[in-house]
Amino acid sequence: MSVFNDAIQNFLAPIQDLLEDENISEVMINGPYEIFIESKGKIIRTDNRFKNNDNLMAAMRAIAQAVGKKFDEDEPRLDAHLPDGSRIAAVLSPISSNGTVVSIRKFFKEKILLKDLIEWGALSSDAARFLDICIYLGKNLLVSGGTGSGKTTLLNILSSRISDNQRIIIIEDTKEMNLDDQHVVHMVTRKEDPAQNIKAVTTKDLLHSAMRLRPDRIIVGEVRGAEALDLVNAMNTGHDGSMGTVHANNPSEACLRLETLCLQAKTSIPANSLKLMISNALNIIVQTKRFSDGKRRVSHISELLGINDNGSYKLRDIYKWVQRSKDQETGELIGELVACQYLPTFFDDIKVNRLPFPSSKFESPDWVKKLKKVA
Ligand SMILES: Nc1ncnc2c1ncn2[C@@H]1O[C@H](COP(=O)(O)OP(=O)(O)OP(=O)(O)O)[C@@H](O)[C@H]1O
Ligand SMILES: [Mg+2]
Repeated sequence: MSVFNDAIQNFLAPIQDLLEDENISEVMINGPYEIFIESKGKIIRTDNRFKNNDNLMAAMRAIAQAVGKKFDEDEPRLDAHLPDGSRIAAVLSPISSNGTVVSIRKFFKEKILLKDLIEWGALSSDAARFLDICIYLGKNLLVSGGTGSGKTTLLNILSSRISDNQRIIIIEDTKEMNLDDQHVVHMVTRKEDPAQNIKAVTTKDLLHSAMRLRPDRIIVGEVRGAEALDLVNAMNTGHDGSMGTVHANNPSEACLRLETLCLQAKTSIPANSLKLMISNALNIIVQTKRFSDGKRRVSHISELLGINDNGSYKLRDIYKWVQRSKDQETGELIGELVACQYLPTFFDDIKVNRLPFPSSKFESPDWVKKLKKVA
């Protein structure tokens, strides 16, 4: 990997072949002797090993130094981006019991595009067109998913579909989003460093600034703290078409997660009002999932409609991934992201704006209807 200078390359010699292999997307190191890779969605253990933990630690320190960070007993966690966009996270022992633990998520120069997701079966062309329409109509949208399920990739793709004449402000912890558009302002949070007299700049701080910077759309790379409330407020106060990602396993969990994060803002808003605010703010939840066959797919596209009498979030699936069968040889799950026989509440907007997306696009295919009968 050309991004590492010669000195670092020497340190990383034990995993050099893994870093250079274009088929490997992630290298995961659990201490010096246990190295796993992800290749084509599969996690595989390799025979690669570092000589000992000191060598592994030295390699990580060299990387940290190269990106101007520290990685030692005082600062036992490293989160960094390499100049080529690869992401590296490491934790030092004894915080981690396996020795130094590292994950390197490689950055591929070939950006993943909407058409790739369709080609790989991660998204159907109808669902992709529907998401495009949601963005065009300025729906507020949350991408929800588990770790490494493809949230940021999808958020990046969806953000890149926003029309060029709109001013986009993106807020992230580390810069992962990468849009080609002209009118994009990127802001990245900063950690506190008392030794250097550097104060923290949080996502919440940046959201406040963003609101004053005349954005048409606000994108929060990952909603993970008290900024959730500011994002909900922004969505409710005219910043339509804002987006973010959240860590949750299904759309209803995503709403609850957002609610829990809003509560971190120590707000005095009563629970019911907060739920109402969230359900007014958010229109669409797109769920990403890494399935048992290792493939990453969109599993749900759901509309948030309000609150049920029992206080739960009222959600309706518009598209949902349904399994049809399984390839016996490869173990690959065979299925489709199908329409769920539900017209979104804003279907009239689709019609009024003369967007070529007829109601038939929301009808379930016959095989799914039959499956339901069988079930
Ligand atoms: N549909 C897809 N098919 C195959 N690979 C994908 C797909 N979507 C994303 N990837 C790859 O999967 C990895 C994880 O993607 P991404 O960073 O978007 O996940 P994430 O959910 O944001 O992860 P995290 O929870 O760590 O923030 C990346 O290497 C990315 O290139
Ligand atoms: Mg992410």
